[in-house]
Amino acid sequence: MASLCFPFPSLLLLFLLSPSFAVAQTTNPNITLGKSLTAHSGDSFWSSASGDFAFGFRQALGGDYLLAIWFNKIDDKTVVWSANRDKLAPEGSTVVLTKSGQLVLNDPAGKQIWASTFTATNQSVSFAVLLDNGNFILAANDSEIVWQSFDYPTDTILPSQILNKGKKLVASYSETNYSSGRFEFSMQTDGNLVLYTRNFPSDVLSTDYWSPNTQSFGFQVVFNLSGSIVLIAENKTILNNLSSNNPTAQTFYQRAILEHDGVFRHYIYPRSGTGRNSSWPKAWSVSKFIPSNICLAISEGSDSGACGFNSYCRLGDDQKPFCTCPDGYVLLDPNDVTKSCKPNFVPQSCAYPEIDNFDFVSMDNTDWPQSDYGHYLPVNEDWCRNECLKDCFCAAAIFRDGNCWKKKFPLSFGKMDYSVGGKALIKIRRSNSTLQSQNLDKNCNNKTKIVIGSVLLGSSLFLNILLFLLTLLIGHRFSRRKLKFNGEDPFILGVNLRAFSYEALNKATKGFKEQLGSGAFATVYKGTLDDNNLVAVKKLENIAKGGSGENEFKVEVSAIARSNHKNLVKLVGFCNEGEHRMLVYEFMENGSLADFLFKPSKPTWYTRIQLVLGIARGLSYLHEECSTQIIHCDIKPQNILLDDSYGAKIADFGLAKLLKKDQTRTMTAIRGTKGYVAPEWFRSFPITVKVDVYSFGILLLEIICCRKNFEMETEDEDEMILSDWVYDCMNEKEIEKLVRDDEEARDDMKRVERFVKIGIWCIQEEPSLRPSMKKVVQMLEGAVEVSTPPDPSSFISAIK
Ligand SMILES: *[C@@H]1O[C@H](CO)[C@@H](O)[C@H](O)[C@H]1NC(C)=O
Ligand SMILES: *[C@@H]1O[C@H](CO)[C@@H](O)[C@H](O)[C@H]1NC(C)=O
Ligand SMILES: *[C@@H]1O[C@H](CO)[C@@H](O)[C@H](O)[C@H]1NC(C)=O
Ligand SMILES: *[C@@H]1O[C@H](CO)[C@@H](O)[C@H](O)[C@H]1NC(C)=O
Ligand SMILES: *[C@@H]1O[C@H](CO)[C@@H](O)[C@H](O)[C@H]1NC(C)=O
Ligand SMILES: *[C@@H]1O[C@H](CO)[C@@H](O)[C@H](O)[C@H]1NC(C)=O
Ligand SMILES: *[C@@H]1O[C@H](CO)[C@@H](O)[C@H](O)[C@H]1NC(C)=O
Ligand SMILES: *[C@@H]1O[C@H](CO)[C@@H](O)[C@H](O)[C@H]1NC(C)=O
Ligand SMILES: *[C@@H]1O[C@H](CO)[C@@H](O)[C@H](O)[C@H]1NC(C)=O
Repeated sequence: MASLCFPFPSLLLLFLLSPSFAVAQTTNPNITLGKSLTAHSGDSFWSSASGDFAFGFRQALGGDYLLAIWFNKIDDKTVVWSANRDKLAPEGSTVVLTKSGQLVLNDPAGKQIWASTFTATNQSVSFAVLLDNGNFILAANDSEIVWQSFDYPTDTILPSQILNKGKKLVASYSETNYSSGRFEFSMQTDGNLVLYTRNFPSDVLSTDYWSPNTQSFGFQVVFNLSGSIVLIAENKTILNNLSSNNPTAQTFYQRAILEHDGVFRHYIYPRSGTGRNSSWPKAWSVSKFIPSNICLAISEGSDSGACGFNSYCRLGDDQKPFCTCPDGYVLLDPNDVTKSCKPNFVPQSCAYPEIDNFDFVSMDNTDWPQSDYGHYLPVNEDWCRNECLKDCFCAAAIFRDGNCWKKKFPLSFGKMDYSVGGKALIKIRRSNSTLQSQNLDKNCNNKTKIVIGSVLLGSSLFLNILLFLLTLLIGHRFSRRKLKFNGEDPFILGVNLRAFSYEALNKATKGFKEQLGSGAFATVYKGTLDDNNLVAVKKLENIAKGGSGENEFKVEVSAIARSNHKNLVKLVGFCNEGEHRMLVYEFMENGSLADFLFKPSKPTWYTRIQLVLGIARGLSYLHEECSTQIIHCDIKPQNILLDDSYGAKIADFGLAKLLKKDQTRTMTAIRGTKGYVAPEWFRSFPITVKVDVYSFGILLLEIICCRKNFEMETEDEDEMILSDWVYDCMNEKEIEKLVRDDEEARDDMKRVERFVKIGIWCIQEEPSLRPSMKKVVQMLEGAVEVSTPPDPSSFISAIK
């Protein structure tokens, strides 16, 4: 392909790269007075000397024309500036550089749509030119610019552009509709740089949702040719790095834009011919964006938030927000996902509430702050559901940590994120909904999951599975479990598990070929099932024998399978044939936390917060919410896997019981002075869930600092053992030292400090001093205060 080779002679390359704007031209780009362009469906533009940019007419959504500047050498012809975004020009409109030196856009009837403004001095313009940096200028002579497009930005700034006090960027309405939209990036005259929501369709600003933490007042936002975007003070000191560590503008096209979704993004695109590295995709990629999670950033004001009313916002895998209607709701305008959602059913009437006809859709980690009219605590979830069900004003309830909030229409600022916690219960009409099975909890607590026909398995397998499950459930404590039915779905399964033959797994793994990892008691292979789903097949060796043997294996496996939580790796099946004992898990695309955390390009602070919360919630679930308590016994980064959106999933839980006792602790783990292994393993203390809390504490400190607990090569000898160093830093009130190279974390020191304290509470040598995982989750979420922990070894040394 053409993009892989570089036919330019190096001399020409030098010209193309040259930062002086008039060198490489082949034609004179000067536009003389009187020249004009007409809007028509073919190309109609003036080009910059290098051809990188064009100025002219672009057809917009709806067929009318935008007078714009765009990148002209790349396929998507990205628009960076426009004159008439809110008043498009019909076909046949003209733009002319008048004899008096003004740029004027007229419609075909000669009526003015737009014109360049005169400056106070009114120097005479002698020509116009589109410079190679994308700036269209009207000039008096070579050194005197009278008017320039850079002074009137729309939503984009380019390298070499400066945003002065009083200037702003206004997002476009949508990706394809360029008219002024709902967000603004403002370099205010008072020296503050602020991102605002606008009270669309008016120009009035509504809520500020981001502003850098600066000591002194700002003066300009500067985007320079090295690809840095900085906020500077009047004396040129840098107050904030909006985007740094980028390639230069000579090797990459660049633009920074306040996009229609309210996120300010710095994009880069490799210039053709300059590609020292041809593996860069020929597309815009995001180099930096602000704020880190727009769904969480906008949570108050007089509008609906990042998404419309009754809608909720969530970050996708690409870190871009998207808006979704809850189940039972549909978009008001099917063509506009940012608009509100409406109930797709007849809402509850107060005259005749028909309580039996309503039910809830439950959504984890979701909230609509600000629209509540009732708050109750402490209550349980059933109470909360009932309270909302019988209240005809209640559109939804939020249940979190024993709190119940009743919400009324319209729901605003909807957000879904790991850090939100709790769950939203959306009230919907039953008869009208096809979603009856989804309003059941996935809790294994006292409810059993109802499996909808389409889940995972082809229907031809159903019979086999039913038979298999009957075997599994006989003799098990099935009768003690309270089953909750909903609708008439007959498939009530304690577990959703497949029994594989050895042959099937042999085939899926192509003869156990591709090894993913191995440990003292198991080897893991990658496999592909017949339905093309990827799986990880764990081959267990030296399984505990004796006693009921095979039966015990089944019971333990079904206990693992019944543990169903989004932060646990899901068991999809097993093999129990002859001497073969294998477990089949869902495949985790992004490997383990160990690979992710300790590599040089460390994950962002925000990603790490999500990981911490995910791991803590998964553990809390294992310890406290399952019908049988599960102690993991081997929490370490290698056992935390990452799903395709880098969510944490705990692997290998429940295995401790399957293995011989002495195998659960491999000798290598014990050798380290302070590993993830709680001290009671070495003493004759009973092993409780608190061993997992200890391991989690070490892991938490590692995630905060992005380094291993034990490192030989550190700047200072005191830093070799992380847990000791962290305690010393906390004691000396120097926690910033722990995240010295991590700008994001340093902007969030309150949370860093809280996490550090929680970590130290978890690694107390005395198990009873360690908090429960449930408490840990509450502390991480900020729901309860965290006091200053004692020295982890103080209690033990005191009793010696
Ligand atoms: C463009 O026009 C100005 C004024 O006539 C002149 O000074 C300049 O040299 C011209 N530029 C080019 C590249 O011809
Ligand atoms: C673009 O969005 C604005 C604001 O909603 C709307 O008034 C206009 O009609 C839209 N333009 C097109 C072509 O859809
Ligand atoms: C600049 O020129 C325009 C058009 O010729 C005129 O309307 C305006 O009053 C002038 N402004 C000043 C400050 O001279
Ligand atoms: C350009 O024009 C300005 C004012 O019109 C004048 O002061 C300046 O000397 C001129 N520069 C050149 C290089 O002609
Ligand atoms: C751009 O700004 C960065 C940060 O202030 C600075 O390090 C770099 O030298 C600047 N580059 C240019 C070409 O001015
Ligand atoms: C620039 O100004 C800020 C306060 O506005 C001050 O803190 C800083 O020291 C100044 N820097 C220089 C280099 O003068
Ligand atoms: C901005 O980045 C530069 C270079 O990376 C660094 O020296 C400076 O301290 C940073 N400034 C702020 C305010 O973060
Ligand atoms: C090209 O870039 C990719 C990803 O940035 C990197 O993995 C690869 O080593 C680079 N290749 C060359 C030849 O620089
Ligand atoms: C629910 O009922 C209303 C009115 O009877 C109807 O307009 C709507 O399409 C129904 N929704 C579903 C999902 O069937």
